[in-house]
Amino acid sequence: MKYINEINKRRTFAIISHPDAGKTTLTEKLLLFGGAIQTAGAVKSNKIKKHATSDFMEIERQRGISVATSVMSFEYKGILINLLDTPGHKDFAEDTYRTLTAVDSVILVIDSVNGVEAQTRRLMEVCRMRDTPVIVFINKMDRDGRNRFDLLEEIEKELKISLHPMTWPINSGKDFKGVYNLFDKNLLLFTANTKASEEDSISFNDLTQRLLDDRIGEKDAEILREDVELIEGVYGELNEEGYLEGKIAPVFFGSAINNFGVKEMLDTFIRIAPTPRSRETSTRVVNVEEDKFSGFVFKIHANLDPKHRDRIAFLRVCSGKFERNKYFHHVRLDKDIRFSNPYTFLAREKDVIEQAFPGDVVGLFDTGNFKIGDTLTEGEDFYFTGIPSFSPEIFKEVINKDPMKTKQLEKGLLQLTDEGVAQLFTQHGGNKKIIGCVGELQFEVIQYRLLHEYGASLQFNSVPFYKACWITSSDPKKLQDFIRFKPANIAEDKDGHLVYLAQSEWFLNTERANNPGIEFNFTSEIHKN
Ligand code: G4P
Repeated sequence: MKYINEINKRRTFAIISHPDAGKTTLTEKLLLFGGAIQTAGAVKSNKIKKHATSDFMEIERQRGISVATSVMSFEYKGILINLLDTPGHKDFAEDTYRTLTAVDSVILVIDSVNGVEAQTRRLMEVCRMRDTPVIVFINKMDRDGRNRFDLLEEIEKELKISLHPMTWPINSGKDFKGVYNLFDKNLLLFTANTKASEEDSISFNDLTQRLLDDRIGEKDAEILREDVELIEGVYGELNEEGYLEGKIAPVFFGSAINNFGVKEMLDTFIRIAPTPRSRETSTRVVNVEEDKFSGFVFKIHANLDPKHRDRIAFLRVCSGKFERNKYFHHVRLDKDIRFSNPYTFLAREKDVIEQAFPGDVVGLFDTGNFKIGDTLTEGEDFYFTGIPSFSPEIFKEVINKDPMKTKQLEKGLLQLTDEGVAQLFTQHGGNKKIIGCVGELQFEVIQYRLLHEYGASLQFNSVPFYKACWITSSDPKKLQDFIRFKPANIAEDKDGHLVYLAQSEWFLNTERANNPGIEFNFTSEIHKN
């Protein structure tokens, strides 16, 4: 319990959204509140642009910048907030999923015009795997959106989560007049293109006051009174337990670009968002309040300079105190290592740090010791669970174009896949190497980096697989028989786990039906060899 004050001070979270819903804009506004940046536009210029879909050189350039924005730490009202960035580009979705293992809660941004979109659904599925608490921000209220009740219904149904409105909008689009804060019982008036200020906020202990009609007009005042009565009747007070269990999501309406409704959300966030939580490991639950240090690597970032292969491993501290120059136990390698230059992400002082506490993320310079999912402790042998590998969606066979560089190619493939850029599968009982990615863009990145960083040249040949399923069975004979009859579809992942590569959903369903004793999983825990 030595570090309880440090723990209680911290909130570690991520903002997630379908591309274009407003994640970058909202991030920027939060950083402005925290004093972490001075001008709007600072984060935006770092974003991987939409039109960069086939421009991997642009991605390369962004890779360097995005290290700096990977974790944004700032203080707001005495709370230390660690905001973990997630790439918006869909081809880097796996990176996002892994980052979500390192946060304690998320803010989900939904575009009020488009409602729930493909990536919103997938991200929420990942959140549900860990029951991550979610706050919803419905953005772009300054645009003609859908009926707010219909929107809430759609979100509840599609994302399978109960919602609890915390603010309530008065119209949308050009008629958008503001939001009523159901918790603080005040009205925040909206004027486009101006920052909401304290004067625009009016307290209402009683909504029947005539002042409401004066400010927003009789018709809208009447609608608001009816809406609020209905909402208060249906929802009552926010059930904070339900929120912390990931079952109920508080909802805010606003416009990120106008910095409207953002502060209301941030104030609620610091009040209710969870402090760093205890975590499951392979042997026991590690209580966040334990004095001994533990943490895990959730992301690895390659150095931009091709001459130096060192990388930055992002370590989430889970318990105890991380200290510079102290020896910690690398569980997978069974060796003790220390870090003389751990990197902090606290705004404006990107520098070496002496110590870090649960909820913090530390950047460790790495010369190849780490892969995603690695655990550091003060000696105990366990690894944090729930850091899965997800099934890729595109598969290609690796063809070595320069046999003189075979070693470099193999080394490069291993290192890039350790970073989580892609997944590597080797044909069971053979040598064929198959790379699996979420997006086409990653194949270009891999080809480019292998050539420039390792001098290896390769070609990718498409292979007709659509999903990788990790297969397990309590009956070894069943598994052996299955492998024997399907040699072309069986591979091993980097940790030697068996994988069935399915050509189509039809094949997968057929195999599932024909092999009841075998489990087909779309995710695999990345763990100790
Ligand atoms: P993302 O990170 O989720 O991909 O979204 P981002 O913040 O980049 O926002 C996507 C687009 O939506 C941007 O416009 C942004 O200005 C706009 N936007 C964000 N919040 C609001 C809002 O509250 N209201 C309205 N009307 N628009 C909003 P863009 O044209 O793509 O980029 P830019 O030229 O403005 O940079």
